[in-house]
Amino acid sequence: MAKTTQFASKIGLIAATVGSAVGLGNVWRFPAETQANGGAAFLIIYIACVFLLGVPVMVAEFAIGRSGRSDAVGSFINLGASRPWWAVGGVAILASYMILCFYMVVAGWTLEYLIASVSGFLYDGAGAMAHTDSAFFAGKMSTLIGSRYYPLIATYVVILINAAVLIVGVQKGIERMSNIMMPLLFVILLVLCGVSLTLPGASEGLEFFLRPDFSRVTASTFLNALGQAFFSLSLGMGILITYASYFPRTTHLTRTAVTVSMLDLLVALLMGFIIFPAVTTFSLEGESLSGSTLVFVTLPEVFARMPATQVWSVMFFLLLFVAALTSTISIAEVSVAFVADRMDVPRRVSTIVVLLPLFGFSTVCALSQLPSLGLTIGGATVFDFLDDVATNMLLPLVAMFTCLYVGWFAPPGLLRREVTNRGSARARAHGLILFILRYVAPLLTGIILVSRFL
Ligand code: PHE
Repeated sequence: MAKTTQFASKIGLIAATVGSAVGLGNVWRFPAETQANGGAAFLIIYIACVFLLGVPVMVAEFAIGRSGRSDAVGSFINLGASRPWWAVGGVAILASYMILCFYMVVAGWTLEYLIASVSGFLYDGAGAMAHTDSAFFAGKMSTLIGSRYYPLIATYVVILINAAVLIVGVQKGIERMSNIMMPLLFVILLVLCGVSLTLPGASEGLEFFLRPDFSRVTASTFLNALGQAFFSLSLGMGILITYASYFPRTTHLTRTAVTVSMLDLLVALLMGFIIFPAVTTFSLEGESLSGSTLVFVTLPEVFARMPATQVWSVMFFLLLFVAALTSTISIAEVSVAFVADRMDVPRRVSTIVVLLPLFGFSTVCALSQLPSLGLTIGGATVFDFLDDVATNMLLPLVAMFTCLYVGWFAPPGLLRREVTNRGSARARAHGLILFILRYVAPLLTGIILVSRFL
């Protein structure tokens, strides 16, 4: 059944799509990857991956969604695809649901830190300089993230917020929320950037972040950059297919893909501009600059050393929470749309069907962070297992088959019809995009997959 739901405005659909793309991948993965993989050398490779591969794959997902006008499985079916192809959509939904289980927990952590910043708990007892060290904040982290109850409560709150937004619908829920959240995110980002770039160690920080070191570039640098680009742009999870099914006929797909990718890249870069000047100004370069330790230990150390500690802390964790929340909504929408379309039930029902089980699944993910409970699969915590399988295996797999489908097997002319809006718009890049989808992207995503097993 073809859908009639649509985003109400161009800005709204871009805000929603950027909301999905901008998440923890930009905040805690990108800056650390850049710094560890040769600074500007990595950045150049990353930018090439975003535009040469990310944009074409995004256009492919858009084309399937907007012409199929349904969820990630239904869109393939509406295009007349046979079973193996719509199964690709099924794997995408599975991957997105796996990610949802732990992303809800991470979003919960950001909410806890936001609340702990507002209430002052995070800095309680940090008054004496001796206490503003990493051990102090590692202690806070184990209270906030390592406890049995707080992370669960926070995760449940995030699930309920998701429910409230998703039940209201695409236009009034997702679009309206994104129209408020995204400008807020950019304003906070710019304020924090302004503060960070005027710190005494700013130039040193930028040098630390971006110093080009081509000697660090190896084959795995390319794979890291590509994996990062796919994750950060939310590719291979049915999200862009689902969102594009709400795009009006007049939306220019290539232009939208380029705009979304540029904004996502901009946020990632600005995050680096915020983090590294602050870290070098207070000589914290030696500490862990990756993942959760960076945002939950090192940055609070920075804030503790600055005047107006709480102001910056609240702003930063609000930024992080907004980034995480809009991503969870987009991931959940994949399944909500799937259940609503396939089972032909109202959104209300599908939202409940999708979110209710998360109270169980996300609880297991959250508790698997506590080593004492021993919730592991194959030696990894349930949390890490889901992350690894979904992002490192299923995501490139789906992306590969999506490209093959649009490049070779979709109804002839699908891509051309979609990128030119049925002939009414110009799309000079069509030939290049088709070439990439047919040859380059399947090859590279294939290499990512194979390299996992080497
Ligand atoms: N793109 C998001 C980020 O950069 C992550 C994400 C992954 C969002 C999967 C949706 C689905 O963090």
